[in-house]
Amino acid sequence: MNPPAAESVMEREEIQRRVDELGDWFQNIDLHGVPSAPNHFLGDYPAEKWRRFAHAIPADLRGKSVLDIGCNAGFYSLEMKSRGAHRVLGIDFDPAYLAQARFAAEVLGMEIEFRQLSVYDVPQLGEKFDVVIFMGVLYHLRHPLLALDLIREHVARDLLIFQSMQRGSNEIGPVADDYDFWQTGIFERADFPQMYFIEKRYAHDPTNWWIPNRACVEAMLRSAGFAIIDHPEEEVFICQVKAGGETTLAAKEHPDD
Ligand SMILES: C[S@@+](CC[C@H](N)C(=O)[O-])C[C@H]1O[C@@H](n2cnc3c(N)ncnc32)[C@H](O)[C@@H]1O
Repeated sequence: MNPPAAESVMEREEIQRRVDELGDWFQNIDLHGVPSAPNHFLGDYPAEKWRRFAHAIPADLRGKSVLDIGCNAGFYSLEMKSRGAHRVLGIDFDPAYLAQARFAAEVLGMEIEFRQLSVYDVPQLGEKFDVVIFMGVLYHLRHPLLALDLIREHVARDLLIFQSMQRGSNEIGPVADDYDFWQTGIFERADFPQMYFIEKRYAHDPTNWWIPNRACVEAMLRSAGFAIIDHPEEEVFICQVKAGGETTLAAKEHPDD
């Protein structure tokens, strides 16, 4: 193998220096041969996860707009841009991650906008997106269903690419439309939708608040007005905004409509 040109060695050293300066990276991104988080506890993350569901997302996003909520260092924003999306906006409430995202996009020559914004602030965007990515954020929220409702109402036009950590049962059991007050057995069922509240810490991370089981993930997505159209990976759900956008909140408030 030929030794690399002096110029590219310099470039790599400069990239490595900036990667180090930008603090701890959660996402491992290949920056022209410099890995941003080579020691991630989940391996080559999120590339390994992405490889398991990339086929389930349109390969050609030309003419489409994408919103990546909780974009972190921009891994999924970069992937969407490389599929031709004409506009990609990444938002995160953490300025340190956004600085990493801006640097990664600059190194890889991708035109992506990054803004510091919380998921609860998406109404401020005043814009709907063809694809909304909401990966790895739900369980970090104190108000997860509010976030899904806001996304559905204000920014999702068509597809939602969703992922959550899940714990508890992976089974989906039958859920009736209604139960009698004295019917308590359902709450003993592991496959009934349930979400675990983390008052202290889980995985040494104080930002973990609510961890749903799979039935709960699916029920919450439906309840917020999304139809699940694919489940290509254990934690990943591809959803579409339900025609008419009905949520189960509306159905509960007006049961006779
Ligand atoms: C586990 S990381 C997931 C990053 C990326 N979406 C992925 O799947 O690899 C969670 C990200 O959500 C961001 N986040 C947490 N709470 C948020 C909020 N309320 N609004 C916006 N971003 C948030 C964090 O700063 C972090 O970048």
